[in-house]
Amino acid sequence: MYYPEDLVEEVRTRNNIVDVIGSYVRLQKKGSSYFGLCPFHSEKSPSFSVSPNKQMYYCFGCGVGGNVITFLMEYENYTFPEALKVLAERAGVALPEAELTDEEKRNNNTRHVLLDIHKDAAMFYYKALYTPYGKNALDYLTNRGLSPETIRQFGLGFAPSTSDSLYNYLKKKGYSDQDMKASGIFRFSEKGPYDIFWNRVMYPIMDVNNKVIAFGGRVMGKGEPKYLNSPETKIFDKSRNLYGLHAAKKSRRDYFLICEGYMDVISLHQAGFTNAVAALGTAFTSNHCSVIRRYVKKVVLTFDSDGAGIKAALRAIPILRTGGLEISVLTMKPYKDPDEFIKALGPEEYQKRIDAAQNAFLFEVTCLREKYNLSDPADKTNFVDEVAKMLLIFEDEIERTNYMEAVCKQEKIDYADMKKKVNKLGSRIVPGANNSYDAPRANNRTKEKEEGAAKTERLLLTWISEEPKVYSKIEGIIDPSDFSSELYRKVAERIFEQAKEGSVNPGQIISSFINDEEDYKKASALFQMDRPKEMNSLDKSKAFTEAVKRIKKSSLEKKGASADPSELMNIIIAKRKLETLKITLE
Ligand code: GTP
Ligand code: MN
Repeated sequence: MYYPEDLVEEVRTRNNIVDVIGSYVRLQKKGSSYFGLCPFHSEKSPSFSVSPNKQMYYCFGCGVGGNVITFLMEYENYTFPEALKVLAERAGVALPEAELTDEEKRNNNTRHVLLDIHKDAAMFYYKALYTPYGKNALDYLTNRGLSPETIRQFGLGFAPSTSDSLYNYLKKKGYSDQDMKASGIFRFSEKGPYDIFWNRVMYPIMDVNNKVIAFGGRVMGKGEPKYLNSPETKIFDKSRNLYGLHAAKKSRRDYFLICEGYMDVISLHQAGFTNAVAALGTAFTSNHCSVIRRYVKKVVLTFDSDGAGIKAALRAIPILRTGGLEISVLTMKPYKDPDEFIKALGPEEYQKRIDAAQNAFLFEVTCLREKYNLSDPADKTNFVDEVAKMLLIFEDEIERTNYMEAVCKQEKIDYADMKKKVNKLGSRIVPGANNSYDAPRANNRTKEKEEGAAKTERLLLTWISEEPKVYSKIEGIIDPSDFSSELYRKVAERIFEQAKEGSVNPGQIISSFINDEEDYKKASALFQMDRPKEMNSLDKSKAFTEAVKRIKKSSLEKKGASADPSELMNIIIAKRKLETLKITLE
């Protein structure tokens, strides 16, 4: 659904950011802004500010910032349309309904019906757990150490021993056979329909919005298969959903614990590790990674200690790594899984294992080493060669050096030897690659220079947005094309336009970057620059002139580098003129 910009603007302006954020964060007025504890990182003294004038928030601690819409996107993990809908409702703004094709309407209807079926089924299983015939199941869960509270919180239930009790229950509620078939939890044979889950403990699988979308059912005691899971349906996509995510997303820790099974997740949550999730008996996918990345950048794997668990971890690591997550792996030895570990040693000991978790790369090397007989020189050489190859996944040279150091330390390999090997391999794989590990310093210097330029540009943009009348002083000298990045050029264009009209509205400007997470973060950070306020007008004029000169000079130099001779003349003249530029602010 596409919403026109002016409608987005209306929704934004009709929701006062202080009220909206104030309902999540305790805010206190300080000067013209409000301050509170940042909801996006943990802190003891408030560095999270909300400005009623700019209608923006910004955290001086962790750098998050944005407007009322992005706040809901970040805090509630809403998509842009979801956040907009909530705010529109809150302010009583009517959003146009999407025009759906008949096909889309049918699809939407089926989805709704399937969700209803699952909701009713979950309720049916849940209630059955507390009936006399559900007593075995309840005892089973209790004996596994789950508290009544946990059982309730995860909506655990019981599928009765008859083969069609759920079917009959839902039939009476008026669902059609066709819809029940589509739900995946019934089978239709010649003998008639029957429930796929019976005489099992039931684990409802919920999506991020707490809606039941599937089930896992476990036999009580021995039996095959141990777990039975819903098949994929219109509402259940295994490659996207994680068990426990609906609760983990609220845990406000900066990492997820990733485990293998339902019971692991549940016992971890019960022990206070509410950031635990599990993939649903399938391999990790890049979709899982993007879901995870909406909440955290780090994961700690807590897979079973046996061979199967280690294999599963080794399979998951490359996928999670490619998915942009920072990974470490914890060991629960001598216990098998989180459930057993916590029962035996308790949460404090488990926390220690989290703190001591091994970097995933070093874990991979450790596992590799076990395949070699290191007392045999030939085997040892092969091992070192293999490690050298593995190190090549790190493209950034500083990062690679760090890993090289860590791995040499861990494996007691001579650093200089390893460096030679890696360089040699690197040069073979990337023809002409830079084999000197000192090179990054030069790169850093250009990076610093670029950052310095961006800082000056930010200063000027903040200045104009706070004091729009100074725009007249740079009109004709600086134009948006003088800014060094695409984003700043776009922002400058909008600020200049608005400054000409007399007032700048940062909240509105960053709104237009809402669809790109990186951009809106940068755009909102841009307005948070501290500009010199307490200076006398002479110093202010100097600082302002300096900023303008610096930006223009670097822009002219850049343009000069690719200019043809006649243009170059103009550039040189412009640069000379710039030297004598003097702007006076009153
Ligand atoms: P408990 O044995 O009850 O502690 O469960 P667990 O979660 O520790 O089980 P396990 O470590 O054996 O398996 C991990 C996960 O793999 C489970 O949570 C299921 O999602 C999945 N799984 C295990 N066994 C089966 C099975 O027989 N069939 C299917 N489809 N999935 C299974
Ligand atoms: Mn297990």
